[in-house]
Amino acid sequence: MNSNTKGRLYGIGVGPGDPELLTLKALRLLQAAPVVAYQSATDRDSIARAIVAQYLTGNQIEVLFHLPRALKPETAESIYDQEIAPIADHLAAGRDVVVLCEGDPFFYGSFMYVFTRLSEQYETEVVPGVSSLMACPVALGVPFTYYNDILTVLPAPLPPEELTTQLLTTDAAAIMKLGRHFTKVRDILHQLGLASRALYIERATMTQQRIVPLDEVDPTEVPYFAMIVIPSKNRL
Ligand SMILES: C[S@@+](CC[C@H](N)C(=O)[O-])C[C@H]1O[C@@H](n2cnc3c(N)ncnc32)[C@H](O)[C@@H]1O
Repeated sequence: MNSNTKGRLYGIGVGPGDPELLTLKALRLLQAAPVVAYQSATDRDSIARAIVAQYLTGNQIEVLFHLPRALKPETAESIYDQEIAPIADHLAAGRDVVVLCEGDPFFYGSFMYVFTRLSEQYETEVVPGVSSLMACPVALGVPFTYYNDILTVLPAPLPPEELTTQLLTTDAAAIMKLGRHFTKVRDILHQLGLASRALYIERATMTQQRIVPLDEVDPTEVPYFAMIVIPSKNRL
């Protein structure tokens, strides 16, 4: 590639875990790119890289960047800038960069931190991925929303009052980012009479997928990749 030409930035959704849930477009772009970047929380391997490991060509430059969570916004801003700088360096040198993102890039995706920093300077294409929002109900084997149902997506770290208000006014819900918030969420579901309809799944579509009855979940063992799905009770 001509070094006077800027590289293109690709944000690629790699799906929820099963490598066969990658789109054909994502696969084509992934294999054509000279540089593949992926993020990891500082203490973990990259899930997104693991999902596509079998498709990497073996002669691509790999860039790992860290986006630590639970930082104060002022600190996060400068750390994220530093972490994402190597991607900009490759683009400035004329190399296309594929940034992998678990699930879909624009649905709570880590790629958005790259997008907001680089998409104005570099030509950017985003490829949607199969999101956990779609994959979890299917893996659980439950139809999720019918006809004019309202679906609400709730991050579990929200305050209990907010979770309660939202759950009272929706037909179906997905509760994400459970981790240490699991007990709070389960208590609310019991209080609202929703526990019997709520389904728990972790690592959907990955080889370690587990489906556990809500009341049998050990709150100390809830992983980051876990979701509670409350399917609509309406039936057509
Ligand atoms: C930061 S969000 C990323 C969402 C992702 N971009 C997507 O489209 O699915 C992370 C949350 O997504 C949910 N999640 C992602 N993949 C999952 C999976 N394979 N099984 C269960 N939940 C998953 C979990 O609730 C997790 O806390």
